[in-house]
Amino acid sequence: MRMYDLIMKKRDGGVLSDAEIRYIVDGFVRGDVPDYQMSAFLMAVFYKGMNDEEILSLTTAMAESGDMVDLSPIEGVKVDKHSTGGVGDKTTLIVAPIVAANGVKVAKMSGRGLGHTGGTVDKLESIPGYRTDLNEQEFFDVVRKTGISVIGQSGNLTPADKKMYALRDVTATVDSIPLIASSIMSKKIAAGSDCILLDVKVGSGAFMKKTDDAIRLAEVMVSLGENAGRRTRAMITDMDTPLGNAIGNSLEVIEAVNTLKGRGPEDLTHECIGLAANMMVLAGLGDEAHCEELARKVIDDGSALKRLIAMVKAQGGDSSVIEDTDNFTKAKYTYDVTSPKDGYITAMDAAGCGIASAMLGAGRETLESEIDYAAGVILKKKTGDQVKTGDVLATLYADDEKLFEGAAARYLEAMTIGDQKKERGPLVYALVSEEGVKRFDD
Ligand code: URA
Repeated sequence: MRMYDLIMKKRDGGVLSDAEIRYIVDGFVRGDVPDYQMSAFLMAVFYKGMNDEEILSLTTAMAESGDMVDLSPIEGVKVDKHSTGGVGDKTTLIVAPIVAANGVKVAKMSGRGLGHTGGTVDKLESIPGYRTDLNEQEFFDVVRKTGISVIGQSGNLTPADKKMYALRDVTATVDSIPLIASSIMSKKIAAGSDCILLDVKVGSGAFMKKTDDAIRLAEVMVSLGENAGRRTRAMITDMDTPLGNAIGNSLEVIEAVNTLKGRGPEDLTHECIGLAANMMVLAGLGDEAHCEELARKVIDDGSALKRLIAMVKAQGGDSSVIEDTDNFTKAKYTYDVTSPKDGYITAMDAAGCGIASAMLGAGRETLESEIDYAAGVILKKKTGDQVKTGDVLATLYADDEKLFEGAAARYLEAMTIGDQKKERGPLVYALVSEEGVKRFDD
């Protein structure tokens, strides 16, 4: 086999065999296939696509390129969740404790934020002392003791994805359904849980801009998960507007804690109940309506919050910041962004809001950038809200006052203020499972 011939075959719209795909992936991980040939191959896939068998072969080869975590030493059903990434998405911090409080184990590896999107690992690291680098034994022990552990991705999980994603990032080949599906599902399959809930975001702050594309991506990922013997579902959720009101690491942890106390923003609470319920449906706890009740109950009786506190303590974190969020170190300065005119917020560019937050120090431009955990944005008005000139649209938080001017301008650029009130669209557009697609936006 020659890489040259395989690139040409895909370039000309051919279908690659399982052996050919494995040759490409394994060769790339070993270093026998150079970056320039892999880049050409990725671009050929971007343009010509892959059929379902090819995507399955690619996903399997990527999953098996490194360690495959065996969670079987942990008793009970293990459920994982993955969000395709968004702005203000702190759902893991809320749904994992909810699910754990109902007896379902969550052994989860999460990522860091990059660009306009945040990452759960960064949010958790805003809790002083919290360790995201547990070894396998420590990870298993925390799950056994508290029902949840959330850590960073272990060193040798899907090295093929790490190398391929880095190339895709610089060769304009990220937004391809076969490449996104294989990237996400190889990691989820290698991470070892019995069930996988996918949260596929759609809208201005997401990879997928159109609901139909998000549904297609979800269908491919659900079928990959089921094929690998994992019960898998996907919710298609809105990312046209940031989720909840907080963007930025410790600000989002505070909002997550408030939500676990039953005092969270309505959109975030609603979405988290839905996500947690679907995780519990996958784990066999009943139908959606029953599982939604289970989710609400552990918020109301405080047991979900107790799970979060237990996990934070078990991972070396200072739980006093969760017990009383006033104990978080606050940003030195705040700045109000005000409305330049009267009207209604008719649209928000969620990615733009995320960039404004990153400009304040809450996000990183490169993987090496340092984060300011207290920096970020608290949204005061969102799509559908009426505003008058001078009303506060958002409060910015930073340790360096010089950052406010640029971030405020970027935030304002992300707002569209019109004359006619426009309601926000649905929060959940569809549910994709083995049984098919259920749409809620018709
Ligand atoms: N998230 C991933 O892990 N991979 C992608 O390709 C896109 C989003």
